[in-house]
Amino acid sequence: MPFPLHRMRRLRGQSWARAMVRETRLHPSQLIEPFFVKEGTRRRDPIPSMPGIFQLSIDTLVEECKVSNALGIGAVILFGLPGAKDPRGGEGYAEDGIVPRAIRELKKVIPDLYVITDVCLCEYTDHGHCGILPGKATQGSVMNDPTIDLLGQQSVVHAASGADMVAPSAMMDGQVQAIRKALDSRGFDSIPILSYAAKYASAFYAPFRDAAQSAPKFGDRREYQMDPANVREALREVDLDIEEGADLVMVKPALSFLDVLRRVAERSPVPVAAYNVSGEYAMVKAAAERGWIDGDRIAMEILLSIRRAGADVILTYHAREVARALSKL
Ligand code: PBG
Repeated sequence: MPFPLHRMRRLRGQSWARAMVRETRLHPSQLIEPFFVKEGTRRRDPIPSMPGIFQLSIDTLVEECKVSNALGIGAVILFGLPGAKDPRGGEGYAEDGIVPRAIRELKKVIPDLYVITDVCLCEYTDHGHCGILPGKATQGSVMNDPTIDLLGQQSVVHAASGADMVAPSAMMDGQVQAIRKALDSRGFDSIPILSYAAKYASAFYAPFRDAAQSAPKFGDRREYQMDPANVREALREVDLDIEEGADLVMVKPALSFLDVLRRVAERSPVPVAAYNVSGEYAMVKAAAERGWIDGDRIAMEILLSIRRAGADVILTYHAREVARALSKL
């Protein structure tokens, strides 16, 4: 037996000692809560595969965001569900589109709420792809450069409506630079870009696509989202997005990509975000509903693991429940 005996348990015996030496902490200010906003009034339509998450009309969205703000949640991110979709995703960059109207109302009622917007066309195109297609919208590959122009327009419309930050998620090459240029040319040089830099083609997005009715009508997203097998490519995506002007970079999904997150966090000169996506949320809720796991504790442990892997901020559907639990600690 070596002397002294290494008594690792000394600091585990009391909650004060445990708290004092805790290496990683979760705070509501590090969380970004996603919201789905749709047309209508008094709407609060449940999303079956995401228990506790709803499609909200602007009036109910405002009420919900008041709650998030009061809980000290860092920010909200908005996803728009337009009344009508078309091949070019026109509602995505229309000045009176669902997201711009939602931002204006939120900023009117809750001026200090930090509002981020998802910048992508998949919620707005009738074919469900993240950009525009050549010719008939029933086949073909998403056209990169025409799409990034539209993403630039969408970002400007969001910023002009009062968005505090934009988050491009379409995985088009050069989208960060196109958005930075578009924003700067219109006087929005102080609006930061949170880039979905390493976004994988993942089956974990399925519940989101139910929520946003945005599943592609043909093919899949593997020709623009990343292969889950690759890490080097993620690091390159991150480097390129930073070069193009990203203020924060994101890894998405989070849980099955914690190794990627760690690698990105180790080299990124800018803050790192991770998206604890819809499928990750759905798995926890489904098992908790059956009584197989303690959903609240699992959610906390998952978010802690994402922070431990290196994320500064986390986009998560658990934001509210976790913020509530943290306020009781
Ligand atoms: C694209 C977008 C998606 C998600 C966030 N932004 C869907 C996709 O790429 O199909 C998924 C988020 C989640 O699963 O929670 N606009």
